[in-house]
Amino acid sequence: MGVMSVRRRAARGGNCARRFVLVAPAEAVKIAGVQTDSAYQLVRLNNGICSVRSLVDGETFHPVVGPVAEAEALYVRQLRLRERLQRHTGEFVVWDVGLGAAANALTVLRATQDIACQIRLVSFDHTLEPLQFALRHAAELGYFGGYELPLQELIRTQRVQFQNGDQKVDWEFHHGDFPTLLAGAGGAMQSPTLAAAPHVILFDAYSPARNPAMWTLPLFTQLFQRLNSGRPCALPTYSRSTILRVTLLLAGFFVGVGHATGEKEETTLAANTLELIDEPLDRRWLERAGRSHSAEPMTEPVYQIAPLRPESWERLQAHPQFRAVS
Ligand SMILES: C[S@@+](CC[C@H](N)C(=O)[O-])C[C@H]1O[C@@H](n2cnc3c(N)ncnc32)[C@H](O)[C@@H]1O
Repeated sequence: MGVMSVRRRAARGGNCARRFVLVAPAEAVKIAGVQTDSAYQLVRLNNGICSVRSLVDGETFHPVVGPVAEAEALYVRQLRLRERLQRHTGEFVVWDVGLGAAANALTVLRATQDIACQIRLVSFDHTLEPLQFALRHAAELGYFGGYELPLQELIRTQRVQFQNGDQKVDWEFHHGDFPTLLAGAGGAMQSPTLAAAPHVILFDAYSPARNPAMWTLPLFTQLFQRLNSGRPCALPTYSRSTILRVTLLLAGFFVGVGHATGEKEETTLAANTLELIDEPLDRRWLERAGRSHSAEPMTEPVYQIAPLRPESWERLQAHPQFRAVS
């Protein structure tokens, strides 16, 4: 395991002038003649920022506003991460679900590097390919500056410790299918480092339609059960769909309206305590969910849309959140 130091640097806008395709808000518009040597591709968003696109999954990472702007809005500012770290004593545990091209993780590290603290960053993904691809295009993507060495060590040994400005970082990577890891198959979740419950979860899978296995009720129920009720933990994610919010509520989370990201006027913030949520979903939202044609959580990794079943509607109405808010 390597110990190294990262000097303070700001994320630069990448020069995406070469080897890109242009991406419209909803989907990529291919430009003739663009080649890629991998299952991933560099794309240029409408605002000129570069991002990564998975050709197999047909999805662009951080579409519209780009990797750094989205991660700053969704995680750093919404979670008031700097304030939380300034007040925190001891290790602060961040779970990064869907490491991908590491934009979320690096944005969090860069935005907090002047705060003297200890961060345990625990990343999960079933492939390192997007990260390896992104590192080969670090200049165009623009957000890797200074973190290339720790990332190479993370790829090589799955763990790296380094000094990030004033903070100590212990970063580990868990390679595998996240739902399987969470279900504890083969004792995977018994690892001593995973025993520390997270304070924050950056949840960034592909969309439910493309990646249903990452959005099921059993997955979020197991995730909720891993939390420590005495350790406040927040989970922001980019979707605002009724089905996701019902899933999080039935899994045990409190759920609120999340900040806009530029792409979406509203996202979702879940937590194991109402204190971390500024705008909890209220009874009007509950009534709309009761009428929605797309609200029943997925119990299997198969995308489907259905109104709430009577049992789910009953459980939802009994959720403590709706006793606490009008
Ligand atoms: C939208 S990308 C994440 C982007 C990333 N957070 C970033 O900042 O660059 C979604 C990621 O989820 C990962 N993923 C999808 N399904 C998974 C699964 N079943 N287990 C683990 N990782 C998964 C994909 O490999 C992909 O890297």
